[in-house]
Amino acid sequence: VEEDSPLKTLKYESLSFPSSEERKNLNENDATVSIVVVGASGDLAKKKIFPALFSLFYEDCLPEHFTIHGYARSKMTDAELRNMVSETLTCRIDKRVSRVEKMDQFLKRCFYHSGQYDSMQNFVELDRKMKQHEGGRVSNRLFYLSIPPNIFIDAVRCASMSASSGNGWTRVIVEKPFGRDSESSAALTKSLKQYLEEDQIFRIDHYLGKELVENLSVLRFSNLIFEPLWSRQYIRNVQLIFSEDFGTEGRGGYFDNYGIIRDIMQNHLLQILALFAMETPVSLDAEDIRNEKVKVLRSMRPLTLDDVVIGQYKSHTKGGTSFPAYTDDKTVPKGSLTPTFAAAALFIDNSRWDGVPFLMKAGKALHNKRAEIRVQFRHVPGNLYNRNLGTGLDRATNELVIRVQPDEAIYLKINNKVPGLGMRLDRSNLNLHYAARYSKEIPDAYERLLLDAIGGERRLFIRSDELDAAWALFTPLLKELEEKKITPECYPYGSRGPIGAHYLAARYNVRWG
Ligand code: NDP
Ligand code: BG6
Repeated sequence: VEEDSPLKTLKYESLSFPSSEERKNLNENDATVSIVVVGASGDLAKKKIFPALFSLFYEDCLPEHFTIHGYARSKMTDAELRNMVSETLTCRIDKRVSRVEKMDQFLKRCFYHSGQYDSMQNFVELDRKMKQHEGGRVSNRLFYLSIPPNIFIDAVRCASMSASSGNGWTRVIVEKPFGRDSESSAALTKSLKQYLEEDQIFRIDHYLGKELVENLSVLRFSNLIFEPLWSRQYIRNVQLIFSEDFGTEGRGGYFDNYGIIRDIMQNHLLQILALFAMETPVSLDAEDIRNEKVKVLRSMRPLTLDDVVIGQYKSHTKGGTSFPAYTDDKTVPKGSLTPTFAAAALFIDNSRWDGVPFLMKAGKALHNKRAEIRVQFRHVPGNLYNRNLGTGLDRATNELVIRVQPDEAIYLKINNKVPGLGMRLDRSNLNLHYAARYSKEIPDAYERLLLDAIGGERRLFIRSDELDAAWALFTPLLKELEEKKITPECYPYGSRGPIGAHYLAARYNVRWG
């Protein structure tokens, strides 16, 4: 890395963990960190939070003095929590040799406290237990709200009034959904701010913790070759694609109240779009980055019905196996109109992006699982080869693909000559395939985000004005869809989604990648 390179200021090297100096900072003069997983009996806690904490512990990334306290209404002993954590734990550490030994050490730091989410008394008891383990050191406390949103405020009130730190910091990680629309989101923010300062609130969008999403800014701002092309002058369209090859099985109750636009587009895909399209931030400081994201979000046109297609999956039988319709789920009301698929064309009304369609597509129960950013460049003006060899427009168009998951990769489609004596053009990929380039596994998004919350790094968390701007774009559309009871287009489970999405893209001269 050269002396004046911006890479020098990056906090973490790609795919590596904090340096010993950074770890020392996390320890902040021998303070303790008590991490409270509120809703410890739940799905997210088991699937993501405990495994991420264990991976961090395994990699020696957690501060020297830390304890983890599970909190929920379910009755459980410390031993039962430890059993639950070790039995359900699946993470990238699973196959490591010293896993068992490390797990034993980790579990000794895990405790459980059963209590109601709205009981000051129960949180006072939790506070007492935490103090016993903090041993008189400066205590920092991180509460992770892994509970349904209707009990967020009760838990925040009790935690802040009865169990916040007396001599260190207190931070609260809040999981989505952050409301259902502009009004409910503003009400949630207002209620949270009765008990917390904005800088104590860490709103998670776990897509911001994904390796390739983090890498987006590095790609743009540390390679001379991309930034000059990053505008309407050279980019024809941008596609942001999320697809899952399974339905809402088991989460129908939650999903039906939100739908795919709120579940994926308004947060995960829009956050990627903001990072993709923002202007160069003044620095890598969290506020500078978030300021630029807000600016781009506020330059966007609110969505209208004309620019949106919605769908819902229906049952489908393939190879003797039958796959259920969305409405077959017992927790989904009969005749539900909730979209499980949506495609939309969005526009940024600023000088850099004027007229460039940003096409988003998100769906459940589709034919594959992937999350991708696809950037289609304009065709080469007066393309000599196209004209003389009749190779077709598509072949002459470059495309940059950032595959967020699975099988992380960044590749650029270029035109080249087929080797040989003749003159035939071919299309090939310049490919950065992560598994081939790096031997180390990629950390789960939750690991990075938890580590950042402990370290007080806010760059990957959503600020309240970002949230307001994001809801302002989608709220009018969501209201219209619901008031007019727009019926989603059906698509078979396991298909490519509704035909309407192709017509929408075609209107902007785009073919989905
Ligand atoms: P769960 O439904 O599993 O709830 C977590 C815990 O909260 C439960 O174990 C239960 O604990 C308690 N709880 C559940 N319902 C109620 C209720 N009505 N009243 C009081 N307590 C209740 O949620 P998840 O773990 O799936 O998700 C937690 C949060 O994370 C939610 O906000 C969710 O939207 C969000 N999220 C979840 C994802 C996932 O993959 N699961 C992905 C992204 C976000 P007990 O009964 O023991 O008190
Ligand atoms: C969550 C959504 O935020 O993200 C889920 O609520 C979705 O519906 C999940 O399945 C996808 O996350 P990942 O990391 O598995 O792509």
